[in-house]
Amino acid sequence: MQKSFPIEQVRSYFPALQASTDKKPLIFFDGPGGTQMAQQSVDAMVAYITNGMANLHGTFPTSIRTEQTIAEARQAMADLLNCEPSEVAFGQNMTSLAFSIARSLGAFIQEGDEVVVTEQDHRANVDPWITMAKDRGAVVKFIPINTETYTLDLNKLDELITEKTKLVAVGLSSNVTGTITEAEKIIARAKAVNAIVTVDAVHAVPHLSIDFQKLHCDILLCSAYKFFGPHLGMAVVSASLFEKLPVYKLAPAPQEIPDKLETGTQNHEAIAGLVGAIDFIQSLGVGSGRKERLRSSMQLIQDYEEELTTKVEDILSSFPEVTTYRAPAGVRKTPTFAFTIKGVNAREATAWFADNYNMCIADGHFYASTMADILEVNPMGGWIRIGLAPYNTAQEIELFGKALAEFVSLQK
Ligand SMILES: Cc1ncc(COP(=O)(O)O)c(C=O)c1O
Repeated sequence: MQKSFPIEQVRSYFPALQASTDKKPLIFFDGPGGTQMAQQSVDAMVAYITNGMANLHGTFPTSIRTEQTIAEARQAMADLLNCEPSEVAFGQNMTSLAFSIARSLGAFIQEGDEVVVTEQDHRANVDPWITMAKDRGAVVKFIPINTETYTLDLNKLDELITEKTKLVAVGLSSNVTGTITEAEKIIARAKAVNAIVTVDAVHAVPHLSIDFQKLHCDILLCSAYKFFGPHLGMAVVSASLFEKLPVYKLAPAPQEIPDKLETGTQNHEAIAGLVGAIDFIQSLGVGSGRKERLRSSMQLIQDYEEELTTKVEDILSSFPEVTTYRAPAGVRKTPTFAFTIKGVNAREATAWFADNYNMCIADGHFYASTMADILEVNPMGGWIRIGLAPYNTAQEIELFGKALAEFVSLQK
């Protein structure tokens, strides 16, 4: 049976929520930029460091423990995303992993082949692939954004993804508008022409249950600092592709998957912290095993975030001066809201919210710069973005409504 959302318990797990500036607590609406770290993650990092750190391949306890920690983290990721532990590789962040994988994938791309990316995505899921395409003489095509619905226009998918397409890169959800893309449709078309599919799940993992096997993509990328953990990137690469991927590596480094993608010494303390972050998520769920608890927990988080979503949508739609870049009802979305205020530079607004209400609200193009150009938001400093996390409350959103009303009235 599903539990109701234990908001007080959740908040108690986040040390940053207990901190204060000028005696006023900070209100974190910057989850899409990076969430706060759960106590379980902090504890796991500290435990790894204080119990003795080491490098790999040693015969001594700290080295053996380090290898166990890494194996544990791969298993935890496998439970979270339903993949094999041997398909999980760690790296500095999603962007670095994408560049490294792209360079290797170049071996499969010839002159005249086609690479398909989207106008909606964070450039971390665009530039690595188009840089590689340029190096290989491949043609780049973009799946267009529909400027009225803030969704990808999938009407011409069969024309965009053809027999010439060798790679398709798509984001599961937009880190700006929150739009959840119908990735299954894109993946099915890509697979029909035997293209490799890489999925950016950085903004999706904190909000959705993800099943790597069901998605049928080849590569999935995400970052632990977006889901209550440390700054660490993860790549899931399907074993069938991973085995044959000719990665750039040192000669004596392991040839096996997933180690072959992990260049140099990894961030062991962050890898330990990742297990803690996943422990936090599963602690909210019910079920007999971690996988089951993670699924139920993600459902609980989603239900709670949906409740909060309605409140934010009501507030934003009540101001005629505010334009919200939100897909219509019926389109699935994460609790991430991009908006502009008539005549106001986004940066000026976020600075005011920070100074007057201790609210952490981000502004800019959020690296979805193609979409920002198309939607012409750059002249006013880009978007203002409110992004919710499961530690946000209805009271915080009410206060945001009050603050927004005050800010808007000050502009008159
Ligand atoms: C959707 C999306 N993709 C990719 C990235 C890049 O991730 P990283 O900072 O781990 O390189 C971000 C970061 O904000 C993001 O939101």
